[in-house]
Amino acid sequence: MQRSTDTLSDSKQVTSSRAQDTSHCRQAKKRLRVKSVLHTSYAPPGARPLSREEQVQGLSDHLRACLLAGEGGSLYVSGLPGTGKTLTVHAVVRACCQDMAGATEGAPVPLSINCMTLAAPQAVFARLLDGVQAAAQLPLKPQSDGADPFIQPGAGSSAGGDSVMRELRAALGATQQDALADADRRQSMGGRRSSIVGGKRSKRMIVAVLDEMDQLISQDQSVLYELFTLATLKGCRLVLVGIANSIDLTARVLPRLQLLARRPQLITFPSYSAAQLEALLHQRLASLPGPVFHPQAIRLVAKKTASRSGDMRQVLDACAAAIDIVVQQATETAAAAEPGDDMTESTEAPLEQKPLVRVGIHPMFKSISQLQGGGSTAVLAVKGLPPQQQLLLCAAANLIGDASANSVQTPLKGTPSRRLSGLGCSTPMSASNKRRLSFGFSDGVGTPGRINMSRRLSIASDASTGSGSLQRKHDCILGELHSAYEDLCKKVAFKALAPSEVSAACSTLADMGLLGLGHAREERQRRVTLRMAVADIALALADARLIRGCLTYDDEINA
Ligand SMILES: Nc1ncnc2c1ncn2[C@@H]1O[C@H](COP(=O)(O)OP(=O)(O)OP(=O)(O)O)[C@@H](O)[C@H]1O
Ligand SMILES: [Mg+2]
Repeated sequence: MQRSTDTLSDSKQVTSSRAQDTSHCRQAKKRLRVKSVLHTSYAPPGARPLSREEQVQGLSDHLRACLLAGEGGSLYVSGLPGTGKTLTVHAVVRACCQDMAGATEGAPVPLSINCMTLAAPQAVFARLLDGVQAAAQLPLKPQSDGADPFIQPGAGSSAGGDSVMRELRAALGATQQDALADADRRQSMGGRRSSIVGGKRSKRMIVAVLDEMDQLISQDQSVLYELFTLATLKGCRLVLVGIANSIDLTARVLPRLQLLARRPQLITFPSYSAAQLEALLHQRLASLPGPVFHPQAIRLVAKKTASRSGDMRQVLDACAAAIDIVVQQATETAAAAEPGDDMTESTEAPLEQKPLVRVGIHPMFKSISQLQGGGSTAVLAVKGLPPQQQLLLCAAANLIGDASANSVQTPLKGTPSRRLSGLGCSTPMSASNKRRLSFGFSDGVGTPGRINMSRRLSIASDASTGSGSLQRKHDCILGELHSAYEDLCKKVAFKALAPSEVSAACSTLADMGLLGLGHAREERQRRVTLRMAVADIALALADARLIRGCLTYDDEINA
């Protein structure tokens, strides 16, 4: 009997561990799906590049004009990293080549070369030739099998130097006459002369996308010059689209191009704004069956990235890293069997039962801090502060908020009443409210009892706007800061510093450039301003669980 009970419990254990394995496996698959959507290579099905309407228009107008006329031409696309150049150019070239398939002699063929993969700048010509030769083998009408139409040329087998150029010109249909005229022109400008022999006209247009084109910069710029010149030769059926980060590559590196009759068309990609990054991320995540990120986490990563780089790739990296952080925390929490504060969203139910990982604001702060915040001097400085000073900064941030987020800046000098009128409003404050706000240190003169920080803020807000909503000011006085700091100390059960120690700590923070500290006859009346972004304080405190809970940053994220 004993044996059969044992067998039963063994089989129950096996079943439950199998169920656990299956659910872990399902969970891992879901995470993988989210990660694949966040991968840079992922393209939302059927989606067009967002927020790039102007660039799409410029690119397709020029491309279509060249393709319809059957003439070569060139474009140069520039912009900072992660601004969608590669994605947009490929999307436009793909669409134009498809649309023009019936309108031209043969369907235009798109080629794609990443210049980073070239052994030397000169190797680009052999690659191009390989692509043009491959294009000549394709049927005149494109196959509609959904495959990527771009030819990725190989290194080619041609000999190097002038013979490649000769073959390339011939394959592209550049006439001997034009080529010689071009060679003469270059010689008259002191350029290198290459032997050129014209060839048979190629039947179809080639659109060659040369990504990371700055890799072709050589000492005398001959490679770039020859490339752009090639596309201008009469009869040449090459439309060249160069992509690189440098905004003024053609102007700075190739002044000689200005002499060409058909200069490259320049298209610039500006950095994305926070709203654009947010929209791009939402577009990607829309293909997932459920929400993965808390909306505030999305807003935060968009805002932080827009303020640093506007690079969509950094947004994707931060989101992927935040998922890893949540998963790691969930594993640790499950192992310790006690929920952590980061996991409020992720631990409402056991991880296995949740539809997808849900990433809140704390893991996102942590991932941004790891990926983007490490380089910021202010963030590193706050990370290295003693906890008491970190708390003081939190108190200052809660009272003052982001100076940059406020529209009106009050001057640093001024009487207390003028200072108090700088509460983000134009309505003058009543004398009683001014008094209520100017306490903190026990000065004994008309000091009312201390009230808590949120109450003070709501008083400030009520007094200034007549509404009950929380509104931050541009500065506070040391007395207020001390009071707010003491409230936080109580919250985290720290022994608060004495007023004189708070003054000294604030002076240190001011010396470090994190706070501004004005002069006043009375110590408690010294004016305090915040000299760093609240979100940067949050980034720095991403790993300090206890203290970061003292920081209120919702307003900054939503602003
Ligand atoms: N407008 C957009 N719509 C959708 N996704 C975008 C858009 N812009 C950028 N992305 C995404 O951001 C990532 C980076 O884009 P892309 O590679 O095109 O940038 P880039 O400007 O070429 O950067 P780099 O200069 O570093 O090469 C890609 O995963 C891309 O899908
Ligand atoms: Mg690119």
